[in-house]
Amino acid sequence: MPIRNTPERWGWVAKWLHWTVALAVIVMIGLGWWAERLPFGSLKVDVFWVHKSLGMLVLIAMALRLLWRLLNPAPTLPDTLRPWERGAAHLTHWGLYALLIAMPVSGWVINSAANFPLSVFGWFEVPAIAPADDDIKELAASVHGALSWAIIAVVGLHVAAALKHHFVLKDDVLRRMLPFGRIEREHRA
Ligand code: HEM
Ligand code: HEM
Repeated sequence: MPIRNTPERWGWVAKWLHWTVALAVIVMIGLGWWAERLPFGSLKVDVFWVHKSLGMLVLIAMALRLLWRLLNPAPTLPDTLRPWERGAAHLTHWGLYALLIAMPVSGWVINSAANFPLSVFGWFEVPAIAPADDDIKELAASVHGALSWAIIAVVGLHVAAALKHHFVLKDDVLRRMLPFGRIEREHRA
């Protein structure tokens, strides 16, 4: 499997980043909801610590992913797609990039405005990016909560589109993103 993307398929760096970030985002939403609903105590603090640490790693992964994506053109979409479908695919993908960067940044703002120290799994300290201020904390928490619903909605649409490509249109779009997916053009080669 090539490291870089080709016009037919995603390279392994893009695939690896896609699936690790996808898994991390699902775990992060679960941890966020769970932590919010726990009573005050050491378990709540620990779950939030994992949530914040993993969330900062998602931010780093997204920054690397954005860089890699800008240096590596995406595989081309099938010719059979109508212009609005191509537009919808681009909008969803870039929307997910924006959401997955805004999400950890808003969390980082909550933590900074709450004046909590932030150490990513005890490996390194992260500086504050906002002054200690209750209004900023409340605003960032509302944004963080709203963005989590936006992510759920857009990912739902994204997964539905991937499944439609595979089961209805029967093209290579899902297979070429799967870790060991073989694509039709390779079968024919
Ligand atoms: C991909 C990254 C992230 C996702 C998907 C995510 C998701 C969530 C979700 C679903 C909640 C619960 C919201 C609710 O029930 O209203 C939450 C809460 C929270 N998250 Fe995140 N989060 C991410 C990154 C971060 C980061 C990096 C930090 C801090 C450095 C952070 C700090 C918090 C805090 C402090 C809360 C509680 C907010 C409140 O008090 O209302 N999150 N997160
Ligand atoms: C939280 C979960 C997920 C997130 C955040 C996410 C995000 C993304 C993003 C940002 C892209 C665009 C890649 C780029 O332009 O660099 C992408 C591509 C893709 N995703 Fe996901 N994804 C998620 C889950 C899934 C799942 C569960 C599936 C399969 C059922 C899937 C299938 C695909 C496929 C097939 C592509 C490539 C589309 C193409 O070749 O044009 N994704 N994903």
